[in-house]
Amino acid sequence: MPFQLNGRPVSFDGPEDTPLLWVVREHFGLTGSKFGCGIGMCGACTMHVDGAASRTCVLAVGNVRGRAIRTIEGVAADADNAVRKAWNDLDVPQCGYCQSGMIMTATAMLADTPAPTDQDIDRWMTNLCRCATYVRIRQAIHAAAR
Ligand code: FES
Repeated sequence: MPFQLNGRPVSFDGPEDTPLLWVVREHFGLTGSKFGCGIGMCGACTMHVDGAASRTCVLAVGNVRGRAIRTIEGVAADADNAVRKAWNDLDVPQCGYCQSGMIMTATAMLADTPAPTDQDIDRWMTNLCRCATYVRIRQAIHAAAR
């Protein structure tokens, strides 16, 4: 089925119930989005689907026919992305495993809510980080919002 991947038209002809995460990682070789829990809880696999932060370990590729998918590789290619810059400036990651999902969720949040309060951040940022980088994540989101 056809869809857009980081602005490029692509097509996947495998089973429609394959999770989008695996299609992007295994078929298209973009491995920045991570597998954590596989049940839609941790957010490590977050990509944008038509701009919305989506947990792609539980999203069948058949559901994204004709839609625009953006991954962390798409964000990384955008030198002007304020979230990416804030993450670098504040040295947010510790082990780094969850951070692509964090950045994707934060980017979607700032597109929806350009000046978030701490409460907005708590509501949006439900991704999990085992290193507990939550304080720096919050600082980086506020920095990116400026
Ligand atoms: Fe998808 Fe955890 S791997 S939410």
